[in-house]
Amino acid sequence: MKRIMWKSRVSLLAALWLVLAAAGAAPAVIAKHAMVAAEHPLGADAGVRILKAGGNAVDAAVATGLAVCVANPSSCGIGGGGFMLIYMAQTGRIYALDFRETAPHAVTESTFMRNGKPDEALLRKGPLAVAVPGQVAGFEAALKRFGTMKFSQVAQPAIELARDGFPCGEHLAKEIARTAPLLTQDEGLKSVFLHPDGSPRKEGETITQPELAATLQAFDDHPVETFYHGELAARIADFVKGRGGVLSAEDLASYKSIWRAPLHRGYRGYQVYSMPPPSSGGGMLLEALEILEPGGTPGLGLNSPPYLARLIETMRQIFIDRAIFYGDPEFVRVPIDFLLSPQRIDGIRRKAFQIHPPAAVPEAPRDHGTSHLCVIDRQGNIVSLTTTINTAFGAKLTVPHTGIVLNNEMDDFALAPGIANVYGLRGSGPNSIAPGKRPLSSMTPTIVLKSGSPVLTAGGSGGPTIVTATLQVLLNVLDFHLDAERAIRSPRIHDQYYPAAVFVEDAMPVSVRDALAEMGFQIKAVPMLGDEEAIQITADGYVGAADPRKGGAAVGY
Ligand code: GLY
Repeated sequence: MKRIMWKSRVSLLAALWLVLAAAGAAPAVIAKHAMVAAEHPLGADAGVRILKAGGNAVDAAVATGLAVCVANPSSCGIGGGGFMLIYMAQTGRIYALDFRETAPHAVTESTFMRNGKPDEALLRKGPLAVAVPGQVAGFEAALKRFGTMKFSQVAQPAIELARDGFPCGEHLAKEIARTAPLLTQDEGLKSVFLHPDGSPRKEGETITQPELAATLQAFDDHPVETFYHGELAARIADFVKGRGGVLSAEDLASYKSIWRAPLHRGYRGYQVYSMPPPSSGGGMLLEALEILEPGGTPGLGLNSPPYLARLIETMRQIFIDRAIFYGDPEFVRVPIDFLLSPQRIDGIRRKAFQIHPPAAVPEAPRDHGTSHLCVIDRQGNIVSLTTTINTAFGAKLTVPHTGIVLNNEMDDFALAPGIANVYGLRGSGPNSIAPGKRPLSSMTPTIVLKSGSPVLTAGGSGGPTIVTATLQVLLNVLDFHLDAERAIRSPRIHDQYYPAAVFVEDAMPVSVRDALAEMGFQIKAVPMLGDEEAIQITADGYVGAADPRKGGAAVGY
């Protein structure tokens, strides 16, 4: 992998690089002109290739998004959807694009009932789990409004990866091994990710996806026309319906991505922009920052027990609010102004340390699906993009001979009171299932400005841990002045109120875990919590960082 370091002068960051390198930590990637950070090196390389060919950040983000979903097809793909935040340097404006999947119009209250009871398994795997995909519409909308290249040009790196193959990465190999018994049940998944004898393909083996390459090639410069309206749309709908699902050709034909106003609030002299509903991520992030703001967190010390205790209480509050208030804004009014109002936030701060979690058996929020990427170009345009097919390999269904892995995004709805989704999240009426509605998401693509100029972009993957991981990365940079690489590498915690446990990464020192346990928190150590990508904009250049947790890479020049 090419990493082009900008070393035109000895700088503070370069000195820091040397110190970290000597200590065995991965160096931050610093570049003068442009940077791409993605959860797979081949995705980052694809974006840089497009930037070097004259594309802007939007062109490169679409190229990276397509390529990363070929290289980590368990995380995301054209059978899924997501959210994108775009900063255009010329106007200084930030745009939010919602290309979230949508419930088919034929779903009813009884669709997910079996024997008179809600059956959550139907939302997680198989044809009823599939919501109308949005990625293709979102990518075309972004390119058309702010890109400079045609779809066929930005899709080229992804087409080559799918057609010619690439070495299976560590993350993908783990996901294949973990889900192999389910992959055997789908011809498309089996033929790509398993050997003929049914054993999982391993790290380093070449993975090719010729059918996906042909599908991307067939999009030419008209991906929306091809995916949502043509013969391909009929094939997708026929396949899902043939398996017992309800997604129709009309659902595909009526799908639209939506431009929305980003949410934003001040935090300690910064302006933080993030995703509005139907993602809960932006509102929750801003609420957490508002709760934490007075006095700030720096005085408590990074990852000190008092700091983490404060974070835990804050996390519990934002997840309680998520469950009560958030849903698709086309269907419910999400009271963001009320949630972030100074009076309410004051009240929340006063009751700190009084939120006691419900007694229940803790389940680790386990998800390594979804993918985040950040791009900045020569002009200073920025894209922060998160895309997903939900959990690993989505609904575990591939549309035959297309390479399209279908999402299981229906599981992000609240099926019924008291029934948790795969991440342990509970919800209520605002996120109930309805025809044409978008399920709540945790995706949190974020851009931070200071005095009107960008200083940081970040976001992540990993279900609800996206919100808490992005919060911790922001605090690590803005409050504790870590560079993006160290901010991401730093061990994290996660608490989502339900289930009743504070999840703490194994890398957190045992003394800290013990101190939290002594405070009365129920600690559950887990290997990793989310995956983050970030780019910092500094006087010394762009500092890019991709999370080692999923083996990502930042590439710049
Ligand atoms: N599918 C995970 C999320 O959107 O939060």
